[in-house]
Amino acid sequence: MQRRKFLQLSSLSVAGLSIKKNNLSFTEIRKPIVVATWDAGIAANKAAWNVLKNNGRALDAVEQGVMVTESSQNCCVGLGANPDRDGFVTLDASIMDENFNCGSVAFLERIKHPISVARKVMEKTPHVMLVGSGAQQFAVAEGFTLEEQKLSDDAKKSYENWLKKNEYKPVINIERTEGGHGPFAPAQLENGEWNHDTIGMIALDVKGNLSGSCTTSGAGFKMRGRVGDSPIIGAGLFVDNEVGAAVATGQGEDVIRIAGSHTVVELMRQGLHPEDACKKTVERIIKAKGIEKCKQIQVCFIALNKKGEVGAYALQKGFNYSVCYADDYNKLLDSKFLI
Ligand code: GLY
Repeated sequence: MQRRKFLQLSSLSVAGLSIKKNNLSFTEIRKPIVVATWDAGIAANKAAWNVLKNNGRALDAVEQGVMVTESSQNCCVGLGANPDRDGFVTLDASIMDENFNCGSVAFLERIKHPISVARKVMEKTPHVMLVGSGAQQFAVAEGFTLEEQKLSDDAKKSYENWLKKNEYKPVINIERTEGGHGPFAPAQLENGEWNHDTIGMIALDVKGNLSGSCTTSGAGFKMRGRVGDSPIIGAGLFVDNEVGAAVATGQGEDVIRIAGSHTVVELMRQGLHPEDACKKTVERIIKAKGIEKCKQIQVCFIALNKKGEVGAYALQKGFNYSVCYADDYNKLLDSKFLI
């Protein structure tokens, strides 16, 4: 019965997946659909898809999807990630549903699933954002386990390497260049630059509702207390159920400066395809910062509109994103880029 209902809803909503001007071209559109940043998005999408294909809510999909990445021991997301320059892993996350409800946590330590704490902030408090020890206290009160304060083996190695120079270079943050692609690429590139990034996920469910999530450890070896764009609604993540959803990855400071994800959604409201909206937003970063400084950083957006159209754009080469809309369709696509 439930499956029949799902199929009916799905077939009603088939309209053609449009990923504009991409290497792979699609004429088929359908919902539900889920899109996530980087190649870690493939595993995350699988978990999200299990929710969506069973007629689940986009909000549940985007939470359960990124929890997969938070559980993995990679250099960028969750407790296995690289620490700040004082040696502590601090996590940022946000979540937003189809009704402008949103929650986020920042500078959160020793909690395995910051995305779920963000959801609790949204659902159980009158606030949008909790940070630091207050966020941790809330998480523990909500039954989350306080994990041991211990670096993963990879993070310990990276941190020990970093301590040799103990040099903080906030502008150098080129992601996934020659060092490899995706969160499992080496934490330190051969040229000494550091990777960091984020899993961001946006989904459209069978009922046509949008939601998004974003979770990260932020920049590796950041200053203690630094918070990036990911937990800031409108910067790292924005959802307007009338229009679309967008999420960012890359140098958070530059996403915050232009309220990046909100900008992408507002451009989609003006009628732009998600890819064009992402491109124009990346152009705005170049305008704000100047092309030379932009060569030192990476910023990327993915977007999904109410029709199920998908788009992405990055400052630099190397960004990819994962799109899933069927049991047998969960693919990694290369983003276009400006520089
Ligand atoms: N985009 C993640 C961060 O800058 O923290």
